Amino acid sequence: MTLNGSVALVTGGNRGLGDKFVQALLEAGASKVYAAARDPRTITAEGVVPIALDLTDHASVLAAAEQAQDVTLLINNAGSSTGAGILDGDFAAFRLEYDTHVLGTLDVTRSFAPVLARNGGGAVLNVLSVLSWLSLPQSAAYCAAKAAEWSITNSLRVQLADQGTHVTALHVGYMDTDMIASLDVPKADPAEIARIALEGLEKGLLEVVADDVSKNVQAGLSAGVEALHPRLARG
Ligand SMILES: NC(=O)c1ccc[n+]([C@@H]2O[C@H](COP(=O)([O-])OP(=O)(O)OC[C@H]3O[C@@H](n4cnc5c(N)ncnc54)[C@H](OP(=O)(O)O)[C@@H]3O)[C@@H](O)[C@H]2O)c1
Repeated sequence: MTLNGSVALVTGGNRGLGDKFVQALLEAGASKVYAAARDPRTITAEGVVPIALDLTDHASVLAAAEQAQDVTLLINNAGSSTGAGILDGDFAAFRLEYDTHVLGTLDVTRSFAPVLARNGGGAVLNVLSVLSWLSLPQSAAYCAAKAAEWSITNSLRVQLADQGTHVTALHVGYMDTDMIASLDVPKADPAEIARIALEGLEKGLLEVVADDVSKNVQAGLSAGVEALHPRLARG
């Protein structure tokens, strides 16, 4: 996937990591960047095409795909974090996380798949998380949704290969955005993560594991569940 001359659409392109993707794409020479947001009036970046898109509203997703017929790169970035825990979290929060990260991402990708096919295949970049691989009880709804989003990303990658669409997944730990503004933890610069993700996409990587915490957790997966939860291991 060559970014120069591409036509990209970034969901959640108004702020956070999405805004950094928009900036990086413009710098990389994308010929058009659609910055999608629930409320397109929140798009403040210059040189982009604002477009309305709410992941949880099928009509809005279809309308966006109808409007942006020239897209060659879809970046599924938008996401929510409710902080719902495994025992005490409200099921409404679990449903919101699923509707957003899983069904919303799937709906957007299904709706844009024919557009990408008509434009030569192109690519999809899904923004996942280290929490697609590691579950924290205090944010269980988010972790479960990100794990399911990883699963649908893997299915989509295989299926969309038939039409020449490349699918890349981004795994990343804490980033300095509104989503985790209340957490006092080390955070990566989202501009740097956007740059790393797009570099990986251009190289044709299937997964971009962008930071050390994600690399360590990925390594822990093959070492067995005890490696990820040493507190729970016997002996
Ligand atoms: N921050 C982290 O530490 C971290 C770590 C790993 C992965 N991620 C992932 O990175 C991605 C970007 O998150 P961020 O950190 O940039 O968070 P953020 O600053 O909170 O931005 C979230 C974005 O998603 C949009 N959004 C939420 N629900 C939506 C919906 N139903 N329809 C359309 N847009 C919706 C928001 O739009 P509004 O302005 O309308 O609310 C906003 O643009 C997410 O997929 C997140 O899960 C974040």
